[in-house]
Amino acid sequence: MPKSYRVAILGATGAVGTELLKLLESRNFPVSDLKLLASSRSAGRTLSFRGESIAVEAVADGCFQDVDILLASAGGSTSRAWLPQAVESGAVCIDNSSAYRLDPSVPLVVPEVNPEAVREHRGIIANPNCTTILMAVAIWPLHQVQPIRRIVVATYQSASGAGARAMEELKHQARAILEGETPTPEVLPYPLAFNLFPHNSPIADGGYCEEEMKMVNETRKIFGAPDLRVTATCVRVPVLRAHSEAINLEFDRPFDRDRAREVLSHAPGVKVVENWQSNYFPMPIEATDRDPVLVGRIRQDISHPNGLELWLSGDQIRKGAALNAVQIAELLVSEAGRTQRTPLSSTTSAN
Ligand code: A2P
Repeated sequence: MPKSYRVAILGATGAVGTELLKLLESRNFPVSDLKLLASSRSAGRTLSFRGESIAVEAVADGCFQDVDILLASAGGSTSRAWLPQAVESGAVCIDNSSAYRLDPSVPLVVPEVNPEAVREHRGIIANPNCTTILMAVAIWPLHQVQPIRRIVVATYQSASGAGARAMEELKHQARAILEGETPTPEVLPYPLAFNLFPHNSPIADGGYCEEEMKMVNETRKIFGAPDLRVTATCVRVPVLRAHSEAINLEFDRPFDRDRAREVLSHAPGVKVVENWQSNYFPMPIEATDRDPVLVGRIRQDISHPNGLELWLSGDQIRKGAALNAVQIAELLVSEAGRTQRTPLSSTTSAN
C-alpha cells in the first residue's frame, strides 16, 4: 500500500488554491487527509475534494501540527508569516509566493528543468514566478543543445496572474463598458478591459518592475547560470487566463529553426503548435486549462545570425503555478520512495 500524505493548502479559496485542489484530485496524489486554509474571511466556506465537502479553516497557530506537505499560495506576506511555523511543525512547504525564491538555502524548482534541486530542501521549496516557469520549460531544452547567451522577452500576462478577484474585475469591467459605463478599477490599478498596461508590480532600480526582475533573477537561479543575460518587458493584457510571451534567444552560434522545432517537439511539458499556412500558433484561449506550454512561431532572427525567435502561451494558473507545485510534491514523494529515507525529510534541519 503506497504511503499517503497529510496535505494542506494555504490560500485554498484563491485562483491557484482551487486549481491545486483539482490537480491533487485529478492526478490522484496520495492524500490521506486534506486541510484547506485561507483567511478568516473564508472560514466555514466549503470546497469539494473527491466528492467530499471540506470546510475551509482560518490559518491559525498550531494548524500545521498534523501536516506533511503544505502547498502555499496566499501571497508573500502570508508565506513569511506562516511558513516558518509550518516548517517547525515538520511540514515540507511548497511556496508559490516570491517570499523565499531567491533565498540561497531554498531550492527554486521547475521539475522539467532542475528536479534534482528538491533534494536540497530545508523545509521550503519555492515555486517560481509564472512567466518564468513557462519560459523555462520552453527554452531549457534548447539551452541543453546549445547554451543560450542572451534572452529578450516580452510578456502578455492575463488577469489570472493577479488572482481570482482580478479575473472577476475584468469580466465585470468588460460588461460595464459595453453598457456605456465607466467602471472604477478596484483590484488592478487601471482599467484592463479594452486596454493593456505595463505590469503593475513595483518599479525597482533602473526602471524594471519586480515582475521583470523575477524573470531575470529566477531564470538564472533555475538554470544555474548566474551570468545569463536576460531582459524582460512585462505587460498585463485583457485576457482572462493564460499568459503569452515573445522570446528572442541569442546563442553563440546559429541554432537552426528546424532543429529547434525538432528538439521542442520531444521536450517534456512542451507542445509545438504551428500551422504556417493558416497563421495558427499558440493562443491563450487554447492554452487555458491545459498542462503543456504551447510553443510556436519558431523562426530565425533576421537581425542576428545567432538569434532565434519563438512565441508561447501557457496556463498561468496551471503550469505557471498549481501544476508546477503539485509536480514538485510528486517529486518529493518519488524521492522519498527512491531513497527509502524518512518521507519528505529535509537535508538539514530548518533554520
Ligand atoms: P481569502 O479567500 O480568505 O481571502 P487570489 O490569489 O486568487 O487572490 O487568492 C489568494 C488566496 O490567499 C485566497 O485563498 C485568500 O483567502 C488567501 N489569503 C489572502 N490573504 C491571506 C491571509 N492574510 N491569511 C490567509 N490566507 C490569505
